[in-house]
Amino acid sequence: MKKKLVAMLLMAAMAFSAFTACSKTGSDKKIGVAMPTKDLQRWNQDGSNMKAKLEEAGYDVDLQYANNDVSTQVSQIEQMINSGCKVLVIASIDGDSLGTVLEQAKEKEIPVIAYDRLIMNSDAVTYYATFDNYMVGTKQGEYIRDALDLDNAAGPFNMEIFTGDPGDNNAKYFYGGAMDVLNPYIESGKLVVKSGSTKFDEVATAEWSSEKAQNRMDAIISANYADGTPLDVVLCSNDSTAYGVETSLDQNYKGEWPIITGQDCDILNVKNMIAGKQSMSIFKDTRTLADKVVAMVDAIMKGEKPEINDEETYDNGKGIVPSYLCEPVFADINNYEELLVDSGYYTADQLK
Ligand code: BGC
Repeated sequence: MKKKLVAMLLMAAMAFSAFTACSKTGSDKKIGVAMPTKDLQRWNQDGSNMKAKLEEAGYDVDLQYANNDVSTQVSQIEQMINSGCKVLVIASIDGDSLGTVLEQAKEKEIPVIAYDRLIMNSDAVTYYATFDNYMVGTKQGEYIRDALDLDNAAGPFNMEIFTGDPGDNNAKYFYGGAMDVLNPYIESGKLVVKSGSTKFDEVATAEWSSEKAQNRMDAIISANYADGTPLDVVLCSNDSTAYGVETSLDQNYKGEWPIITGQDCDILNVKNMIAGKQSMSIFKDTRTLADKVVAMVDAIMKGEKPEINDEETYDNGKGIVPSYLCEPVFADINNYEELLVDSGYYTADQLK
């Protein structure tokens, strides 16, 4: 009888310690990763890279995609907070819509890393990790300046402009960086925007949608270029907008193919680059950003200060958010193999 009791007590003690060990790894090491959508290739890569690397480093990961729907993202974050995540990594859909839910994170002292896109008007944002967004725009503008030899060629050249979602803080940096390079040529008349749309709000593309970019390009072609007027260049802030523009040109434009910029090196766009339909795409190696963010999470979890390289650029309306900015590079037909295939980012087969 006594033996039985001891055995039962022993078993109960073992079960209890297994339970506590389990809940320890389960909640003490859980990191929430909130991504905007599965629709664009890049976010799938960002999410899966980060999950793999965080797990390698010994963390449990709650990875969620929100289908580009703000209220879905808000409830996913709420769920992460309530289920005991210790750090939140968030690529927001709309940078202005997370203030309220992040109040709860702040109350529970859960650090928040804004991933790629800054979260605005919230003092719950601890760190920001991204590629240098202004530099992305600058590189696109410089590419156009050099490809058209704007300082020497007589011109004028016809240009149209497509940027991203107004709710994405990055879009203003991409647009601003490119326009700071190109504006002097617009002012001097060497670059002409026939549609007349040059201001951010006029050239923004809601949700970065390819379809919306395509529809706008259709309208621009029929109003300005259907009579054979050449279109020399289209500044596109990213690959999804570039893809919409390219599809529209394919269907409606008869002249010589324009220079087109992009960003992300999405597979469809790299294929278009190989086919001569897109001139360049900014390459932001999501492996680099994922590595940086995993190192940030790890430092936070160990009570250390993560590596930061910018403490002046990104003010989210509540103050400067300490940031780590990775450097973007551009890919074109001459270097894409080295950048994208030799580095193992894609296989050669994926680009066929
Ligand atoms: C990212 C870009 C991406 C765009 C659309 C931006 O915030 O920085 O890389 O192309 O969102 O998803």
